[in-house]
Parts: sequence; C-alpha cells; structure tokens
Amino acid sequence: MKSVYENEMKLEFMSKSNNEAFARISVAAFASQLDPTIEELADIKTAVSEAVTNCIIHGYEEKEGIIKIECRLIANTIIIEIADTGKGIENIALAKQPLYTSKPNLERSGMGFTIMESFMDEVQVESIVGLGTKVTMKKMIKKDEVSKEEITDVLNQMKQSSFPMNN
Ligand SMILES: Nc1ncnc2c1ncn2[C@@H]1O[C@H](COP(=O)(O)OP(=O)(O)OP(=O)(O)O)[C@@H](O)[C@H]1O
Ligand SMILES: [Mg+2]
Repeated sequence: MKSVYENEMKLEFMSKSNNEAFARISVAAFASQLDPTIEELADIKTAVSEAVTNCIIHGYEEKEGIIKIECRLIANTIIIEIADTGKGIENIALAKQPLYTSKPNLERSGMGFTIMESFMDEVQVESIVGLGTKVTMKKMIKKDEVSKEEITDVLNQMKQSSFPMNN
C-alpha cells in the first residue's frame, strides 16, 4: 500500500551512550532532504539527543535495551518517534515540568523535555509504566525565501549566456 508519507526511515540500536551521536547524526542526515537551515538542523539534533539520552538513562537505567527511531517526512515537516521498552513514566505531566528530574544525584538538570519542546514545534509523550515510552516530535522546516546570492547567481548566468537579448 502506498504510504501517505513522502519518505520514511526506521532505525533500531542498542541503548549504549556511544549510539547517541549515531542517532542524532542519522536523523540529521535524513532531515537534510528538507533543506533545513544549520540552525533548524542543530535544533533537531539537540532534541533527538535529549530523547535518546532519556531512553538510555531513565528508560533502561543504563542496562541493555533497544531504542527505536522512526522518521517520516510529509510536505516540509519531519515527524520523529523515539521509543524504548523500558521502565516507563508514572506521571508524564510532572516529568515534563522544567527542572523536574527523578535523578538529581546523577547531575541531571531536568531540562530535557523543556529543550525538546522549545526546539521542536510539537512534542507528545506516551508512556506505560513497565512497558516503555514513546516521544513523538514534529518540526516544520521553513522554506527560505530566495536569497540575494541566488538572485546574483541567476543574473550572472543570464549575462554569460548567449541569449540574443544580451547581445
Ligand atoms: N524514556 C524515559 N523513560 C523513563 N522515564 C523517563 C524517560 N524520559 C524521561 N523520563 C523521566 O522524565 C524526567 C524528566 O526528563 P528530562 O529529560 O526533562 O530531565 P532529565 O533527563 O532528568 O534531566 P536532563 O535531561 O536535563 O539531563 C526524568 O528525570 C525521568 O524521570
Ligand atoms: Mg533528559
């Protein structure tokens, strides 16, 4: 069956902190099809990094587990799902509050969800205690208006071409 999405990718990897960079770089590479600005790409990388780190530290509490990422593109929006089958979150509203952390002793600042929410357009958290957690984030990539450089390029090409109007 034809997907409603224009493009999709799925990743599955072990919950090791080395894989945090792999996840963030892979999602950024996929997102780059939408021609994001460097800043938009940095926002996506930061949000992915926070969600994946949460799976490793809180979901699996540093034990072995599998993290799944699914990314979809539709029009100029990227939808990123990051899921673990770890311990789950009892109180999602509390977990999302700025500065709330269940692990203050690990020097966590409790800002992960706040960062995801500020860098992405939408963040949705679903969780069942004992079964796991899924974070779904959306970001619309704003199409740049035509830049001055692009206009200059086109004008230069016209000048160089042997189009009769230029002779
Ligand atoms: N995947 C997850 N599985 C289980 N609990 C989670 C998960 N993600 C977040 N949580 C819970 O939500 C809380 C808040 O997460 P958040 O990312 O905002 O802060 P933090 O991870 O504690 O600190 P920081 O991200 O600033 O290092 C966590 O302390 C944890 O209790
Ligand atoms: Mg966190």
